[in-house]
Amino acid sequence: MIKSIIERRSIRKYSPDEVTEEEVNALLEAAMYSPSSFNSRPWHFIVVRDPDKKEKLSKATPYSGPAAKAPLVIAVCADMKLAKRWVEDCSIAAEHILLQAVDLGLGGCWIQIYESELEGRDAEEYVKEILKIPENYRVLCLLSIGRPAEKKAAHSKEEFSKEKVHYEEF
Ligand SMILES: Cc1cc2nc3c(=O)[nH]c(=O)nc-3n(C[C@H](O)[C@H](O)[C@H](O)COP(=O)(O)O)c2cc1C
Repeated sequence: MIKSIIERRSIRKYSPDEVTEEEVNALLEAAMYSPSSFNSRPWHFIVVRDPDKKEKLSKATPYSGPAAKAPLVIAVCADMKLAKRWVEDCSIAAEHILLQAVDLGLGGCWIQIYESELEGRDAEEYVKEILKIPENYRVLCLLSIGRPAEKKAAHSKEEFSKEKVHYEEF
């Protein structure tokens, strides 16, 4: 099994150390290897390091707090002029980034933006405004990334539950 798949957990606490330019490039390169519907490759990524922007992003939903504390946030967006299956395409790209982060000794967390809200305010519209994202683009999620300041055990093998796997018929 691929080591980073086993070790990956959602990391929400980070040391203050910066994520280097080389590491950011490796994360984005990993995303670019993703499959996509009709090879449409609709993804766009916004690399955010500015503390003020990250603070604002952390207020997008009740669950976006990690964005304020992470040295790096990547917004995963889609160009709707290219997209055929933007949610699936961007989800795979986001997971590539999270797995590559583990391989680099970093940790990350998916922060849902698409179809999320805070007190009736649409999270996607809110993020689009902060990051000046044009009209014809969608925002799937934010990825908060940094050097882990918390340790989490891998999910146990018992979670590979036989009850969830079916052969030939349900
Ligand atoms: C689609 C999706 C949305 C998520 N949204 C959030 C979120 O908004 N905030 C957050 O802290 N974690 C979020 N998570 C992380 C989950 O809470 C986490 O994956 C789950 O609890 C399992 O823990 P693990 O990632 O450590 O295995 C999200 C994960 C996924 C796949």
